[in-house]
Amino acid sequence: MDTLLEVREVSKAYKLRKGFFKKELFYALRGVSLTIKKAEILGVVGESGSGKTTLGKLVLRLEEPTSGAILFSGKDAFSLGKEYTRKVSVVFQDPRSSLNPRMKVREIVEEPLIVHGFRDRKGTVESALEKVQLPREFLERKPDDLSGGQRQRVAIARAIVLKPELIVADEPTASLDVSVQWEILKLFEDLKEQGIAFMFITHDIRVVEKVADRVAVVYGGMLMELGRKEEVLKEPLHPYTKFLLRNVPVRHPRFRKEEDFREVEYAVPQEGCPFAPRCPEYREECSKTIRRSELNGRLVNCNLY
Ligand SMILES: Nc1ncnc2c1ncn2[C@@H]1O[C@H](COP(=O)(O)OP(=O)(O)OP(=O)(O)O)[C@@H](O)[C@H]1O
Ligand code: SF4
Ligand SMILES: [Mg+2]
Repeated sequence: MDTLLEVREVSKAYKLRKGFFKKELFYALRGVSLTIKKAEILGVVGESGSGKTTLGKLVLRLEEPTSGAILFSGKDAFSLGKEYTRKVSVVFQDPRSSLNPRMKVREIVEEPLIVHGFRDRKGTVESALEKVQLPREFLERKPDDLSGGQRQRVAIARAIVLKPELIVADEPTASLDVSVQWEILKLFEDLKEQGIAFMFITHDIRVVEKVADRVAVVYGGMLMELGRKEEVLKEPLHPYTKFLLRNVPVRHPRFRKEEDFREVEYAVPQEGCPFAPRCPEYREECSKTIRRSELNGRLVNCNLY
């Protein structure tokens, strides 16, 4: 079995203050189940507020699920000790804020090795830098003396220095120029070839198209559709996936397809289908329940199936 990570029926609720005394639960994630295989890139795509970062935080153990479980190589992630932080690492969106400006590149990349008690660190640091295709002289520089793309390469070197099995990458190219974005995505593909799996979080379906093997489409804290990239992007089943694909920004407005979704001021419902207020296929049952189906290995949460 080559499953590395299993997210099993995970929900995450936050308490929101409503008035002076009253608190209400808000579900940022509802019953999410997915897997990531060894050396595969799972793209997690959805718009702002859909719960992508929350999912990443749970996988990184920065927060605990309200219910459900996260299994790593078949074991409860929360029962694994410090070794988990060696096997699962992270790359954030903005290297400017995730890298300490006072530290040299050498110190930044070396830090995880120190935390995990490794000796003879010099060669490992240099090899990590080589893997992200930065010259050795950069070890003595500080983040402010690097370009955005170079800074993100340093963040990736730090993420791979402990030879992790899984990296959670949360919008790792969103702060970069398009040409640099593509170079960094190529680097993620190279690292995958070397055996690292990725949970690749993005709002940009074009990024998913470039790097992912499988795609999980999320909306309103729920998984809408999950399957092989070619299938999900070429023959989307879920109305929300279709919506995302219709609204991929294109170079010229002339090429833009017309938005055929109802424009509604809406709050994401906490019951039934979260996409219900925007869905052209809406039917009465969608406000109360949502059906889960598996169609030829593809997961779809929608009452149409
Ligand atoms: N600590 C918290 N307390 C209350 N609500 C939270 C908290 N963290 C996240 N949320 C809410 O959970 C929902 C999901 O947030 P999350 O950051 O996971 O979304 P996202 O998909 O990463 O969005 P973006 O694309 O903007 O980064 C949002 O409505 C957010 O306001
Ligand atoms: S469950 Fe209903 S509202 Fe939700 S996407 Fe499917 S058809 Fe649309
Ligand atoms: Mg986010």
